[in-house]
Amino acid sequence: MRVPFIAANWKMFKTVHEGVVFVKEFRSMVKDISDVEIVVAPPFTAVHAVAEAARNSVVGVAGQDVHWEREGAFTGAISAGMLREAGAEYVIIGHSERRRLFGDTDETVNRKLVAALGSRLTPIVCIGETLEERERGETLAVLDRQIKAGLDSLTGEQVASLVLAYEPVWAIGTGRNATPLEAGEAHGHIRNRLRQWFGAPAADHCHVIYGGSVKPDNIHEIVVHPDVDGALVGGASLEVRAFFDIVARSRQSTV
Ligand code: PGA
Repeated sequence: MRVPFIAANWKMFKTVHEGVVFVKEFRSMVKDISDVEIVVAPPFTAVHAVAEAARNSVVGVAGQDVHWEREGAFTGAISAGMLREAGAEYVIIGHSERRRLFGDTDETVNRKLVAALGSRLTPIVCIGETLEERERGETLAVLDRQIKAGLDSLTGEQVASLVLAYEPVWAIGTGRNATPLEAGEAHGHIRNRLRQWFGAPAADHCHVIYGGSVKPDNIHEIVVHPDVDGALVGGASLEVRAFFDIVARSRQSTV
């Protein structure tokens, strides 16, 4: 059975100090929650300090991106081994902002994914269509392409360990979340493809979470769908109470 997976994507928000203050307060709020996998993704500069602050708690830490090489002349880049050493156990890969603003493609997503798995980081791989693609009726074809190319060469066992985040680009930071029907349709499709391409155990174990304008007041209607295993939360994860409410309500939805 998949427990809900709720991740905070802080994007380029929070200093080291702010991240540590957040986690110190948050870890005591969630200390009795053992049935939700909870992750925060600070900016690179705060990964180590936040991981230290979260040590021996139920809160895991993620990087927001990773380079596929182990080391080398790649100014500004961070490797999977470096993230792991800094205390991260997860990494977000292929977020639509990385695809749109920093040149990520399905091919680089695949390389990053392989590197992350090689360093025992759990990848949170983002996929999702733009508004234009949705309006052209291409949503499912875009998801197929992103899954096929992004997860290329992975074994069923590796896919089972992944978190796939379906984030319709038009729903990110816009206040317009996908309706439960839209999210359910996409998630059902993703799960079917995983089953078809990587086998039933992979499809049954892989967490497929939703992202895009998730808030305390809409998390319930989103995760109530059996194929939606949690959420990747941007804006609403910056405030400790709102993020806690999302975690708490994701649980209620599964009981
Ligand atoms: P949002 O961002 O919750 O602010 O829409 C989600 C994301 O980009 O992961």
